[in-house]
Amino acid sequence: MRRKVIAGNWKMNMTPSQAVKLVTELRPNVNNPDVDVVFCVPSIDIVPVVEAVKGSNIHIGAENVYYQEKGAFTGELSPEMLVDAGVSHVIIGHSERRMYFNESNTVLNLKMHKVLEHGIIPILCCGETLEQREKGITLDFVKEQIVEAYVTKEQVLHTIVAYEPIWAIGTGKVATTAQAQEVCGFIRTVFEELYDKETADQIRILYGGSVNASNAAELFAQPDIDGGLVGGASLKPDFADIVNYNK
Ligand code: PGA
Repeated sequence: MRRKVIAGNWKMNMTPSQAVKLVTELRPNVNNPDVDVVFCVPSIDIVPVVEAVKGSNIHIGAENVYYQEKGAFTGELSPEMLVDAGVSHVIIGHSERRMYFNESNTVLNLKMHKVLEHGIIPILCCGETLEQREKGITLDFVKEQIVEAYVTKEQVLHTIVAYEPIWAIGTGKVATTAQAQEVCGFIRTVFEELYDKETADQIRILYGGSVNASNAAELFAQPDIDGGLVGGASLKPDFADIVNYNK
């Protein structure tokens, strides 16, 4: 039985004081024993938010990381810095990073290896554009993203995947449960090809793209959807309703 993961992706929202206020309000309401809860927050919010969730079961994630240990990389954060600040997860290859910051599968593969060396759990994002979906190349495209970014068999179960169709992100246009299940199920078969069935059965695959409190329960009930990566709806106190989707 795979444990659910519900991760918020705050993107470039929430000043440090707004962040502390939100997590302080959410903290008592996101204790679902069936769910690993992660808040992926802007770099500047990490330290105060880690402090604000101390003693709770909330995990704190970063939204990005660099693949070098240290040095002359102005503006970047290393995995060691994240670990020392209390970060346990990091989003790798969100479509916005791929699109606006030209992150390639090759760079994402370097990031995956580097964060795993430091014991951070990567949440690798993949997903197609509307144009790719309409052309019927969704599965091929997603497969390529996974195959090129992925890691060794020993490491794979320390990772999480998030399938996020780009056309469903921030648009209010959620994929139908059938569409989401189809691609998440397909991703599991890709892991079976890359590793083996036992590994594929254990890896956690999330859906992301306009998840909210009214569609979460149906999405998370699909056989291959192990939770969600939630953008807009993670910025409000009712994020708790998504975490408590099964109550
Ligand atoms: P959304 O964003 O929930 O606002 O669609 C999801 C994401 O980009 O991770």
